Amino acid sequence: MNQKYWFKDKVFYQIWPRSFKDGNGDGMGDLIGVYEKLDYIQSLGCDGIWFSPLYPSPGVDCGYDISDYMDIAGEFGGMEAFKKVLDGAHERGMKVIMDLVVNHTSTEHEWFQKSRQKIEPYTDYYIWRPAKANGKLPNNWDSLFEGKAWQWDEVRQEYYMHLFAIEQADLNMDNPLVREEVKQILRFWLELGVDGFREDVITFISKKEGLPDDHIMPASKGFFYFNHGPHLHEYLEEFKKDVFSHYDCMTLAEAPMVKPKTALKYIDEKNDPVLDMMIQFASQEADCMFTDFNHMKFSLRKLKKAYSAWQNGLEGRGWNMLYIENHDHPRMVSRYGSEKFRTESAKMLAVSYMFLKGTPFVYQGQEIGMSNWYPSDPAMYEDVQTRWQYENVGTKKSPKKRLERLWHGSRDSARTPLQWDDSENAGFTTGTPWFYVNENYREVNVADQEKDSDSVLNFYREVICLRKELPCVKKGIYKEYGKYSSALYTYSRKTAGQKILVVCSFSEKEENWKVPKEFDLSTAKLILCNYKDTRSLTLKPYDARVYLWE
Ligand code: NOJ
Repeated sequence: MNQKYWFKDKVFYQIWPRSFKDGNGDGMGDLIGVYEKLDYIQSLGCDGIWFSPLYPSPGVDCGYDISDYMDIAGEFGGMEAFKKVLDGAHERGMKVIMDLVVNHTSTEHEWFQKSRQKIEPYTDYYIWRPAKANGKLPNNWDSLFEGKAWQWDEVRQEYYMHLFAIEQADLNMDNPLVREEVKQILRFWLELGVDGFREDVITFISKKEGLPDDHIMPASKGFFYFNHGPHLHEYLEEFKKDVFSHYDCMTLAEAPMVKPKTALKYIDEKNDPVLDMMIQFASQEADCMFTDFNHMKFSLRKLKKAYSAWQNGLEGRGWNMLYIENHDHPRMVSRYGSEKFRTESAKMLAVSYMFLKGTPFVYQGQEIGMSNWYPSDPAMYEDVQTRWQYENVGTKKSPKKRLERLWHGSRDSARTPLQWDDSENAGFTTGTPWFYVNENYREVNVADQEKDSDSVLNFYREVICLRKELPCVKKGIYKEYGKYSSALYTYSRKTAGQKILVVCSFSEKEENWKVPKEFDLSTAKLILCNYKDTRSLTLKPYDARVYLWE
């Protein structure tokens, strides 16, 4: 695998294709639109792209339900458009990684259609079980999206497992033929020239033998029986040995609930790692538990604890993947920042994670400080998980309360089309957009921010440029200060010849900052800030500063 570790020098941009840019006027984002915007992505300083799924799919889970792994969906422009984008990215020195979704397939995939009819060799491609004698489900596990994890199939007269939507059937990775299929898929894309994969819920692919009932977890039953299951490491090792080790590529594993110690079992660079990086969820959990009805208040202490645990936990051994937004979580300005101080807090949030050690990812729209979307009617939601939650969680609460809960928790809050300008449909499409455009597009859009040297967009460019210039951001040791503060996040990054001190205020009020004793600001250079008056140690709302010594 990547002996060169090129991914450590990259900043990735995540494209969620449906909502990025429509190039052919049919209302759906596509690769023609991406091609048009490659220079824009490059202008941010991003030199890598992660594509959320582009494959043919019925779209039950917006592409995470794949019906053909070796093609590009016609609605996105097909294979020809993809090759053009891939070449265009490579010409610009950008790497491209694909989403590998092999915990499950769409039930429309040919494998599933054959498996339900017991046509060989597909009979055991999925996790089929008969009903229990008393007519009960094969076990008590929950689906993460809708109801129980089992669906009865009339054709085969058995249940199949689905940890996500009913139309996303879990593959039986214990079957060597399924693993061979996965390797074929990997080789196909790597031969085509892609540079790696973001591996969707890959830690779920090995289920506990015997699929026992879960008598421990009160909710999300089964989670600890399918997350980090008994053969996970072995299967990842097999993928590495048989495929990845033959290519110069990177692997990034989505890993819900993973802790640094467990992550190191897979990504420890000194111990023959089977993966390069893991996507942790801890930094997303500082304000909510989506399964509870009520959201908790944002806790900066919780967020800092998560960042420090990962920075310290992987130091010298593994490499962090850094992100604050993606397509599965509401927008950060609305969650950890403030819509009232949108510009200031969007900039502060950029600083808060971009100077940590690791490879940062920027999710489309984050770079202009896009905020949550507040639909007036629950029927406007598209996301399968959100719809199920509305119907089934907190049903005794008023419809208004249930809708408000979705505003703050739904993935759709971050899936509205990217706001390119203030023209109709935010310049996303000349047709009818497939999804609602956030009403604030006249105030928040790329075109306006291009013209404003103080915009969030231009701030992102500055941040990315700085993190690439400063060796201490790549290599320096991390240290956190004032961990009990519930308003300020202060950390330093140090190498022998260079150090930075970063302070971020997560407060709507002014806050007094106590500079850590070991730093003398009079000898420092202030290299980045989001306010003009920066002499005072009383920080303004959502103040963010980076000081440099060298
Ligand atoms: C994680 C993906 O990020 C999410 O969007 C998807 O719905 C689930 N995995 C299921 O594939």
